[in-house]
Amino acid sequence: MKIIYAVFGDPVEHSLSPVMHNAAFAALGMDCEYHKFRVSKDDLETAIMGARAMGFGGLNLTIPLKEIALEIVEPDTLAHDIGAVNTIEFKDNRLIGHNTDGIGALRALQLSGVIIPNSRVLILGAGGAARAVAFQLAQNGAKVTIANRTAQRAHSLAENVNPVGDVRGTGLDDLQELVAQSNIMINTTSVGMHPDIDKTPITADMMRPGLVVFDIVYNPLKTRLLIEAETAGAIIIDGLKMLVLQGAESFRIWTGVEPPVKVMERAARTVLELM
Ligand code: ATR
Repeated sequence: MKIIYAVFGDPVEHSLSPVMHNAAFAALGMDCEYHKFRVSKDDLETAIMGARAMGFGGLNLTIPLKEIALEIVEPDTLAHDIGAVNTIEFKDNRLIGHNTDGIGALRALQLSGVIIPNSRVLILGAGGAARAVAFQLAQNGAKVTIANRTAQRAHSLAENVNPVGDVRGTGLDDLQELVAQSNIMINTTSVGMHPDIDKTPITADMMRPGLVVFDIVYNPLKTRLLIEAETAGAIIIDGLKMLVLQGAESFRIWTGVEPPVKVMERAARTVLELM
């Protein structure tokens, strides 16, 4: 019988996960389907139990459900540390919560040939996305600086992540110097996201050839930040890479099958280009 997978969220209409996973299932000839469901916070537990009762293969969670899921499932260590669950695995009778956002970012960097241990990473922003990325990269041996408009949030996130690695928090006052001291710069803020496509957290004059600039914003695909980075001769990584690779990790967790990353990326990119 066909196995059903799903993403729960609210809003969820614009999720690219169904397109990505359905392309993967089709490419591998797997009798599976992936759907999106609008689920409110109050109904999350009922919906998860319902999915399990109906034999779903696995779930993704998106805004605003990732954090409250911690109370419903058994988070693994990384999901517990990050404080959010984006993937639920139905294992025997257990509900295991994973977080693949940080792994998605890590793999996106690795695929571009970046060596993480001892690299100096500057993360702009201190929200949920920054948290996942900071935990993952610190755990993999990067020296991480979190720079945020509200410096206090950067300090408190750095304090949280510190037990797993080398992390410090700061404000945006010395941004130019912080960029100059880094090998990798990751924008996790919403600056530059549609419709504010002319905005960028830093400009070409602050960047240099060889710097890796990774923007987790994927709408537009090529943000103003990435355009400026290219002008400066930097190496660029777009947000779709992270989105696809976090999805690929969920796919691997649920199915145990090597995800067809290229197929997933092509499917998601095609849809985004049409949007
Ligand atoms: P998410 O969970 O998606 O990471 P979030 O928790 O809302 O989103 O965090 C958004 C991040 O973008 C925050 O770090 C925010 O900075 P503040 O903590 O100071 O609010 C940052 N951000 C949003 N708009 C910004 C702007 N115009 N300039 C600088 N930083 C901005």
